[in-house]
Amino acid sequence: MSPTVADVRALAGERPITMLTAYDAPTARIADEAGIDVLLVGDSMGNTALGYEDTLSVTLDEVLSRTAAVSRATEEALVVADMPFLSFGVSEERSIDNAGRLLTEGGASAVKLECGSHTLALTERLVDLGIPVMAHLGLTPQRVNQLGGYGRQGTSQEAAERIADLAHEHEEAGAFSLVLEHVPANLAAAVTGELSIPTIGIGAGPDCDGQVLVVNDVIGLGEWSPPFSKRFGDVGDEMERAIAAYCEAVASGEFPAPEHGHVEEGLDELY
Ligand code: KIV
Repeated sequence: MSPTVADVRALAGERPITMLTAYDAPTARIADEAGIDVLLVGDSMGNTALGYEDTLSVTLDEVLSRTAAVSRATEEALVVADMPFLSFGVSEERSIDNAGRLLTEGGASAVKLECGSHTLALTERLVDLGIPVMAHLGLTPQRVNQLGGYGRQGTSQEAAERIADLAHEHEEAGAFSLVLEHVPANLAAAVTGELSIPTIGIGAGPDCDGQVLVVNDVIGLGEWSPPFSKRFGDVGDEMERAIAAYCEAVASGEFPAPEHGHVEEGLDELY
């Protein structure tokens, strides 16, 4: 049986939680079989899978369709769906409808919100309604136009305190876990020590309760990776090698060979 948010929450302080993004069924199946704890259908799909410049253009329908694909292929991991830009926070009713669809139609077990003070009441309301919330603080890419890029966050005393305060407030509002992105390791360690819900870091040092990365960065698929990620494989190179070999085999006539097709006896009268 798939883990619940309570199972993931209970891992805080027990053993490191592993989380990875996934945007399609085959990747989800492989990650699930490899033993990942949480699969995040991140709005990073904008850059990594959909060819957008950033995450702002990603729509709810796109996240919904990808979430459903990931859920269908996942047996063991907890599936969390990211709420895309402006799909939450504009009106409470629309936010609830959209979050609910990610669970009812997408099959996710929880939603993730890029947070600020505007998501406190919403987190409480969603949790009241039975929609578990993973909060996300630090670098929140949906704010790229305000942040002026994707740089480090929480680097001044004031900014660090703001992140720590919002982390506490989201825990009190009922979030079951917290992603901390691109913040100083000492800030992430302090927040992790103070909260009882698990923190999941990305570019936030080793002391979080878990780690998350974008799957393309981990497997080596894509042109650019952030400085805090690490490549554990070369899937892009292997894909290119396989596709070039296929092109060569077609060009040379080596493929298809007789075993890749069939001849039906008795069809001579067709010609
Ligand atoms: O969209 C995403 O992939 C994310 C992770 C980087 C945490 O939000």
